[in-house]
Amino acid sequence: MSFMRKPFVAGNWKMNTNSHASAELVKAIASKAPAIAEGSVHVAVFPPFVYLQNVVKAINSSGIAVGAQDIYYEKEGAFTGEISALMLKDIGCTYALCGHSERRHVIGETDELINKKVTATIMSGLLPILCVGELREEREASKTEEVVTRQIRKGLAGLSAEKVSAITIAYEPVWAIGTGLTATPQQAQEVHVLIRKLLEQMYDAKLAEETRILYGGSAKPSNAAELMGQKDIDGLLVGGASLKADDFAAMIQSAV
Ligand code: PGA
Repeated sequence: MSFMRKPFVAGNWKMNTNSHASAELVKAIASKAPAIAEGSVHVAVFPPFVYLQNVVKAINSSGIAVGAQDIYYEKEGAFTGEISALMLKDIGCTYALCGHSERRHVIGETDELINKKVTATIMSGLLPILCVGELREEREASKTEEVVTRQIRKGLAGLSAEKVSAITIAYEPVWAIGTGLTATPQQAQEVHVLIRKLLEQMYDAKLAEETRILYGGSAKPSNAAELMGQKDIDGLLVGGASLKADDFAAMIQSAV
């Protein structure tokens, strides 16, 4: 198993916490999850932009990485309200989410825009987590494979195998995000296999084998171990449960 496929547990805080709570949360996670300091699991948190520096300071040398929930694909210039990948790298971020389902379905981001963001993220030296996943009606219409294939093909368009080796993919069925409805380990594993096969078709077997693929969607302490026990599930992208230090730490510990 490659370095990239070391278990990875990521916490997407979305539009939550405040300046005090963000620092306290990351410190509590570090103290409650010894696996982080032992180096047996990769852990990253994704606070809101305005608390990133706060959290970067608070993590100190705990081993937790920090990422941004989004980026804008231009380097700098007249893009009011936007934040570039270079700026995020500059303040100590390691990762950036690209194409999270809320960006796709609430904010209205397209596959083309997400492709630009993935590309800019890699070019800046940040590591992207490309999020994909089908809506409930798409699953019910047996379109999961079609949708996930389109999101990955378009999301990675124009990128060489070397560039794509920096990417983590997160499979997050939209019907499972924030709903309490988790995909069964078998449902998740099935789509992870499909993603690996697609990467093999698009690139090669080595890249497909080495790419880290996370599951996300109502992951919690009670289902974390079983999900991560699936052969092709390398970790979790956690929303709600990542805001509770005890729950998130328990999920990190169950990754090892
Ligand atoms: P959830 O969110 O764990 O609250 O379902 C997951 C995500 O949106 O990344």
